[in-house]
Order: sequence, then structure tokens, then C-alpha cells
Amino acid sequence: MAKNDKTSQDELKSSIWGGRFSSGPSQLMQDINASISYDKRLYRQDIAGSKAHASMLAAVKIISNDDCHAIHSGLDQIASEIEAGDFVFSEALEDIHMNIESRLAELIGEPARRLHTARSRNDQVATDFKLWVRDLLDSIDHALADMQGALLDKAEAHADLLMPGFTHLQTAQPVTFGFHLMAYVEMLGRDRGRFADARRRLNESPLGAAALAGTSFPTDRHMTATALGFDRPAANAMDAVSDRDFALEFLASAAICSVHLSRFAEELVIWSSDRFGFIALSDAFTTGSSIMPQKRNPDAAELVRAKPGRIIGALTGLLIVLKGLPLAYGKDMQEDKEGVFDAADALGIALAATTGMIHDMTPQPDAMLAALTTGFPTATDLADYMVRELGMPFREAHHASGAIVAEAAAKGLDLEEMSLDALQAIEPRIKPDIIGLLSVASAAAARTSFGGTAPDEVRARIADARQRFAIQ
Ligand code: ARG
Repeated sequence: MAKNDKTSQDELKSSIWGGRFSSGPSQLMQDINASISYDKRLYRQDIAGSKAHASMLAAVKIISNDDCHAIHSGLDQIASEIEAGDFVFSEALEDIHMNIESRLAELIGEPARRLHTARSRNDQVATDFKLWVRDLLDSIDHALADMQGALLDKAEAHADLLMPGFTHLQTAQPVTFGFHLMAYVEMLGRDRGRFADARRRLNESPLGAAALAGTSFPTDRHMTATALGFDRPAANAMDAVSDRDFALEFLASAAICSVHLSRFAEELVIWSSDRFGFIALSDAFTTGSSIMPQKRNPDAAELVRAKPGRIIGALTGLLIVLKGLPLAYGKDMQEDKEGVFDAADALGIALAATTGMIHDMTPQPDAMLAALTTGFPTATDLADYMVRELGMPFREAHHASGAIVAEAAAKGLDLEEMSLDALQAIEPRIKPDIIGLLSVASAAAARTSFGGTAPDEVRARIADARQRFAIQ
């Protein structure tokens, strides 16, 4: 089993920063200082960064090609050990950078000690963390595109399905289920835009900034930037090691995205409730109760609804860590990772579970139609008719339509069920051509304005969204 044994740990500690120390840190110092329990998640990025750095050092002849080869093969072996679960992580070695460097020294000896030339853990950790967040942003984009695809498919299948649209959670106007789902396709599109923006600004390499001021060695930061897929090296070494904007931008975008998912989750909870019954969720995304045999609880949706708690918390937490922090690196910045990891995990599972529920949910047309028989969802259509056909000013038409609604409510009728006589008793200019216009289907079909709920318009916007978001 690969090990960072005690002797080599002590040796490395003293060789890394122990020169002026006569004894080791207290246990408490180690406990508060160590980040290995969580920053081990950066191992792949740490190894990629070190390989790029070693290749650059060899290219500019700061180390020999033989040393560079030894470093590369040692790092490859460490990657395999970690992936196989054979690597023993040591708290005494603080973090992923020193754990890997220590093991490299065990494996290849002297060349390992040359790797840290013209580099500091300050630029190393900034590089590792950026690479990790960049991979994360790419996987989030895929997950969001998958969710958009699931919504587009459902929306297409139900572009004609009528349901009430709500404002204030009160019945407002008839819409279609497909139309409602398409609102989320747009929200997720803006989320993807925010993550893509964050990725663009993130993509400058901190590597080679060294501790804070650059280095006196003839390094080539452009070379390492290119090798790691960055667009360019970060232009100011002090900024490069102090910057955590990329983490903040991920968290801010994640916070907004999680709020979108939470709004959708709340709609799923409402729609699947006994009172609404607009959708059914299957056994796959619900749980039972330990005491009430009849229950089917939308736990997955409720958990998605709750995830912004963590994610907004992580954003707030990191903003507070960085607020007032003087340049350049301060150990405070080690507190940047756990919140990001936790937010990434929370967003990842929320995205996957929500996409699962979108595939899984079955709309219940009867319940949706039944809900449209209360709340007078076509009252606006009646007012619009009076404007269009009778030339009334909208405010006046609104008033007359309101009076007709009051009369219908008193009679216990839908607007559609009101006789022509009853309508004309309130507004004598109403003509027989009103008949049929007050049904929920004609009300929805009439809303043909760009982005409106008319089924043909919804279908046109679905086709357009597939193009815009490159989703087939
Ligand atoms: N574990 C540290 C972190 O995550 C690495 C950087 C340490 N740098 C230092 N100057 N002590 O921030």
C-alpha cells in the first residue's frame, strides 16, 4: 500500500517550511490548519497543474528532461493510487498539494524536490480550484441542457393541454401546460448564460504567479496556461493568487439557478397535492409515510425546494470570508472550498432529480379542466371582446366584465354558461357573436401574440428554443 510514512512526512514538513522552526505544530494547530479532508477532491487538477508546471520548467531548462519525465511518471502513479483507493492521505501534510508532493518524493526522490521551483501553494491552489470549478461549470451546462430537453419534450407533448395560469396563486387566465413548462426552459437558458459567462472570465491561469509577486526564474506562463486549457495567464500575479471571483460567480449563478429549481419544485408540490391533482408523480420520485398508509409524499421536490438554503448560504459565507481581506493570500482563503463543494453537490443532485421528475410526471387533464371551471379565467376575454367589437375603452370594458362576473358568481354559473340575455342585461351592446368566445379553449387559442399561450404559438416557440439552445 502506498503510504506517506511518518518519517518522510516529518522530513517533508521540515523541507517545505520547517527551516526556521525547531519543533512541530501542536495537534490543535494541525487540526485547524488541515484541509486535506476536503481538498483531496482537487487531486486530479493538482496533478494536471504539476505536470504542466514540470513540462514548462524543463522547456525553459530550469529542470532537466529526465527530472521532468520522472515527475510525470511519479504523478501518473499517484493518480492511479488515488483512483484505486490505495493512497493514504495524511492530516499532518495539511493539504492535497503537500500530500502529493510528499508521495512524489517517496516515489522518485530528488527530482520531486525540484518541482516547486518558481511556484507557490498560493498559485497552485488557485489553479487547482479554477480547473475544478471549470469542470463543474461544464457538467452543470450539460445537466441544464438535459433538463431543457426534458421540458421541451414534455411541452411539445402537451402544447394543447389547458390548465389555469395563476397570479397570486389565484386563477388568472387559461394557459397550456406546454406553455407553462416553456417558462422554465427560458429560465434555465439564462442560467446557462450566467454559468458560461463565469467560465469565460474564470479562464485565465494563475499558475506561475508564485507567492504573490511573480518569480525571478525565466518561466513561461503562457505555456502552462495553454497546456491547462486557459485562454491566457492572469495578468497580475498579486491578483492571480488573491482572486476568488470565479468561486463567487459560480455560487451566485448557482444560487439563482437553485432558486429557479426551487420555484419549479414548489409548483410540483402544489400540482401533485390532493387539492390540485394537476400531475401525478410515480413511485420513483415519491415516498410513503411510516404511519399513514395512504400517503405519497413529493420528498424529492421538497428537497429541491430546500437546496437554495445551502447554496445561498455558501455564497454569503464566501462573500463574508473575502470581505475586507487584504491582498494577497491569507489562510482565510482556505475556507473557500467546502461551501463550493457542498453547493456543487447540492446543485448537481437537484438538477438530476428535477430532470427525473420532469420525465416522470404525468399531467391530469381532467383535474386541470375542472380547475378552469372556477375563478372566471375568461373574464379578460369578455373585456377584450367589448374593446374589440364594441369599441369600448379597456377600463370601461374591465368594469362591465367585472359586473358580469359578480352576476355569474351570484348565480353560481361560469361566464360561458351565462345566457345572452343575462349578459345584455348588464351591457346591452353585447352581440350574439360573444357565444363561444368565453370558453377556456378559445381564450387560450386567441392569445397568439409572440410568446403567448396559443398552442400554435407555443409550438413555434418550442421549435425556436430547440434552435437557440441547440437541443434536439
Ligand atoms: N491549503 C491551502 C488553501 O487551500 C493551500 C495554500 C496554502 N498557502 C499558504 N501560503 N499557506 O488555501
